[in-house]
Amino acid sequence: ILPSPLLDLLGVFVLLHVITSINDIKQRIKTQKENHSTIGFVPTMGALHEGHLGLIRQARKENDTVVVSIFVNPLQFGKNEDFKHYPRTFDNDCKLISQEGVDIVFKPDASEMYPDEFCTSVILEHLEDKLCGKSRPGHFRGVAVVVLKLLNLIKPDIAYFGQKDFQQTVVIKRLVSDLHVDVTIKVLPTIRDQDGLALSSRNAYLSETEKKDAPCLYMALTKARAMVNTGIKNTEEIVQEMGKIVSQCKSGMIDYISVVDPETLESVPKVRSGDVALLAVRIGKTRLIDNVILMLLMALSWFRLC
Ligand code: PAF
Repeated sequence: ILPSPLLDLLGVFVLLHVITSINDIKQRIKTQKENHSTIGFVPTMGALHEGHLGLIRQARKENDTVVVSIFVNPLQFGKNEDFKHYPRTFDNDCKLISQEGVDIVFKPDASEMYPDEFCTSVILEHLEDKLCGKSRPGHFRGVAVVVLKLLNLIKPDIAYFGQKDFQQTVVIKRLVSDLHVDVTIKVLPTIRDQDGLALSSRNAYLSETEKKDAPCLYMALTKARAMVNTGIKNTEEIVQEMGKIVSQCKSGMIDYISVVDPETLESVPKVRSGDVALLAVRIGKTRLIDNVILMLLMALSWFRLC
């Protein structure tokens, strides 16, 4: 009789097909395509939480085969960022994934993804240097490269992303459209804790006190929504009020607060329905991001009538 943690692990690996080599994933995807199996893909960096599981569940509902990738992509971390410390919880991720009926986990090696001679970059002019790109230069190039590589390997019909990383979703949609990648990108709403804090693998870095401060991001966004609901459209006024809320939280340092067009990410002087309020705040040493889509009341009531 094996000790139960070992049984747990064996159970996980018997049910889940974990593929690590690029050749093997190509072969497996080729077979799926020959069988006319539709493929739903959820790319992740692991340290899975309910946000990821929501994407996986949606993928499970809508496709014959579900592939989840787990790869902490070195290319999207700056020199002084948290690549080394990023949470790596593979065994637990596998346990969670296996409960969701995922067919394939792709966990490539960095050395195979980025061999020494690798030198390709993907630049998204006008999108990569705004908002998060200002304080994380090179981040979105790293995201674009890895997502394009993964889409080329997995060839999914639908790929799923969370709205929490709003700028990332805009970059990926642009990339797919500009380069004619044959995939549908689905963006699902942010999953939050009861106090409003958007779920993120980086929340694991927060101390108990910081955890109490962190919901200030969502409080600021809720204020923006409330202001728009009362008819205020002036974004300068909205951003100022959001800033006041974040400033009340002791461990918070604002990186940016902005209201932008959802496609160009240009800041807008007056809110229109569909514009997005976003912010990045350092809570202690942890940089958190969040956003909400703003709807003018008239548009909201029209949606409710339909
Ligand atoms: O959102 C993430 O977890 C990552 O940026 C992604 C899309 C998996 C690319 O590494």
